[in-house]
This record gives sequence, C-alpha cells and structure tokens, in this order.
Amino acid sequence: MNQKGLLIVSFGTSFADAFESNIEPVERVISAAFTDRTMRRAFGSGKIIAKLKKRDGLHIDTVTEALEGFRKDGFTDILIQPTFIIPGIEYDRLLADAAPFRSVFDSLVIGKPFIDTMEDYEVLIKALPKAFMPAKKDAAIVLMGHGTAHFANAAYPTLEYMLHTMGYDNAYVATVEGYPDFLQVRRHLNEKGVKTVTLMPLMLVAGDHAKNDMAGEEEDSWKSQLEADGMKVTVILKGLGSLELVRRHFAEQAKKAVQDAGTAK
Ligand code: CO
Repeated sequence: MNQKGLLIVSFGTSFADAFESNIEPVERVISAAFTDRTMRRAFGSGKIIAKLKKRDGLHIDTVTEALEGFRKDGFTDILIQPTFIIPGIEYDRLLADAAPFRSVFDSLVIGKPFIDTMEDYEVLIKALPKAFMPAKKDAAIVLMGHGTAHFANAAYPTLEYMLHTMGYDNAYVATVEGYPDFLQVRRHLNEKGVKTVTLMPLMLVAGDHAKNDMAGEEEDSWKSQLEADGMKVTVILKGLGSLELVRRHFAEQAKKAVQDAGTAK
C-alpha cells in the first residue's frame, strides 16, 4: 500500500501562545490541502526541542526522527513543507537532513520556504493587513526580520524595495541579526520626521525577538529607542503565521512542489 505522509517543519517556539496562534494554524491549513496525507510535525531548532522536553516534558521530533518514524511505520511517499520565511540556514539544514532519506522513500518531495520567487514577495506584502500599513506621511511601519549571515539575507532589502515600489514609501524592513539593522532604519525614520511607528515581526512566530528585542520595556528595545526619539510606537505582537493569506501560501508552496515533482518524472 502507498502510505502518504506530510511533514511540516517549523523552526519552533517555546512560547505556548505563539505556537497555538502561529504554528498550529499553519499546519492545519497545509494539511487541509492534503487530506490523503498523514501530517506529522518536526522542529528545526534542537535548542527549542530540548527546552520543551525539559520544561514541559513535551516531545517534538527533529526532521531526522520524524522521517525515521515515517519509514518505520511503512510510509513510502513523503512531502515535506517548511514554514520558514526565507531559504536560509534552516532550509539548507532541512535539505541536508532529508537527503539520506531520498533512497528510503519511493517519493520524497520538499516544498520551498515562503519566499522563493519574486512573486512570493508580492504575496507577502499583500498578506499584510492594510490596517497596519502607514496611511499618513508622518507614519511608518517597521517589519522586524530575523536576518542571517546566509546569502538569503538579501531577501530583506529586496522586500523593502518592493514595499516602496508597491506604494508603501514608509514601510521599512530591519533585522535583528542581519542587514539592514535597526540603527539604519531608525536613522531613516528620524530623517523623514516620522511621528508614529508600527512595529511588527516579519517572522512566522512572535516569540523571543518580537516580545523582547522589538517590544520589550528595556531601554534598548526597538520600541524604547523610537520612543526616546519622540515617536509614538504601536507594537503588533502577532507572527506572520497568524495571517490567513500567509498560511495559505505555505499550502500553495507545498502544492507547487508536488506538481513540479510530477512533471519532472
Ligand atoms: Co534569533
């Protein structure tokens, strides 16, 4: 019998609320697009897996464990869909972890992260609620991306360029650990005389970076720094996974991967 599995791989979070509002709903929407497949979950972050085990006694599979489990249970056809935003280090690791299983399963298909082609940037921008976007000249939105030393960091400035092209002049992308950084964006906001700013995570989950680095009360958080500049700051503590159009796009990426694999045969 041809047993079909769907493995959804997220970086992971140790915040239960962030898991319930950003990861689970994405999993639900992707699985709903593949009713003939048995869905299982894996996290990419070993640190988060270890933390959940220690703190909550909760077991979450690594990619290798999940694929090994599918094999043991007799599955022959596997589709993997990550919930990553950019094809960075996490995606490379997923591909590497899945590689040894190419010869194990009759079919192993891996979907792309949210951003793959240029059209995907547009999908992301359109998925952002209009209510969050700056309507006045002295208002701005800053999207907090994670940022990475990986080449895929180029996605962040690309996204900002496209936001401007699509008419959102006062929409900025700043990253925690990559380029552009917050100081560069802060300077732009001050030069432009921006008075009100919305901060929103450009991450699947509003976890540690969003709650602390972006919205925290400490004086080095993005919110505090902009307030020190005299701006009125609103924080959105919702990850991209809370947006319906984002959820659907991950399902689309998975469908596309299955189609592409079909035509390649
Ligand atoms: Co980080």
